[in-house]
Amino acid sequence: MRNLTGRVAAATGAASGIGRALALALAAEGCELALSDVDEAGLEETRRLAEARGAKVSIAQVDVADREAVEAWAEQVVRAHGAAHLIFNNAGVALSGTISNLTVDELEWLMRINFWGVVYGTKAFLPQLERAGAGHIVNISSVFGLIAVPGNGAYNAAKFAVRGFTECLSMELEAARSPIQVTSVHPGGIRTQIARNARLARSEPEGMSAEERHDSFTNMARTTADAAARSIVDGVKRGKRRVLIGSDARLLSGIQRIFPTLYQTALARIARRWESGRV
Ligand SMILES: NC(=O)c1ccc[n+]([C@@H]2O[C@H](COP(=O)([O-])OP(=O)(O)OC[C@H]3O[C@@H](n4cnc5c(N)ncnc54)[C@H](O)[C@@H]3O)[C@@H](O)[C@H]2O)c1
Repeated sequence: MRNLTGRVAAATGAASGIGRALALALAAEGCELALSDVDEAGLEETRRLAEARGAKVSIAQVDVADREAVEAWAEQVVRAHGAAHLIFNNAGVALSGTISNLTVDELEWLMRINFWGVVYGTKAFLPQLERAGAGHIVNISSVFGLIAVPGNGAYNAAKFAVRGFTECLSMELEAARSPIQVTSVHPGGIRTQIARNARLARSEPEGMSAEERHDSFTNMARTTADAAARSIVDGVKRGKRRVLIGSDARLLSGIQRIFPTLYQTALARIARRWESGRV
């Protein structure tokens, strides 16, 4: 979809980080916006910023883990804007903990948001994209949807699943000669609130505070949310199936492709040293 002017774009997780930056980048492209998040105050602020850029904006408090709420929001978007042309399934959370320490409840909590949220958003919006006769589905996976990292089992599982779901959908729609395009997005470290909002498995030993985690993540993360949003919008305009964001994501993706099992041996060694306090 080369020209986004006048298109209706829906995005989840728009109260913060990549979602807010996407909303503002899409406003600058001339899109109408339908934004959702669980965080109402953050969503109001995104609306204010996007309206200041001239966009028509609707907002809705929606938990992406709630299938009925996502479906109701999709209907609301049609009433407010007519059919959407673009859906960005972006809302997500992080959860640290080894698979041994994570409870099944904790795993399910993360999967409901990071995987099922993407499925609900895709399924709820696909029919209206098809009715509009043109459209694009953008699902936010992660570089952790390409490479697994010890202590991130829940997040890895969800983000690998988002990639599989998204790549399959892309091929199926192309095979059916659908006008809808699909992109799987794999950011490396992006400076957002994700580390501050992250949960730690209840039975993991207490580590850093939320603020320490945020500071340490921000020092390591290479890319701003605005730059990430620009890459995503550029990927949509060019009809790319996969968007890798940041030099860290490109490097890790390359390592995974060249050393698909050796990277696991190397990361297991680092994790062992970490456990014994040598890193
Ligand atoms: N920041 C990174 O380094 C990074 C890297 C790779 C992938 N990602 C992915 O990018 C996406 C956006 O994350 P971010 O970095 O902007 O983080 P963020 O914490 O700044 O923003 C995430 C947004 O999602 C919302 N959200 C959380 N749970 C929700 C729910 N159940 N329903 C609706 N909204 C919910 C939050 O309120 C928040 O506004 C996520 O899917 C994340 O996994 C981020």
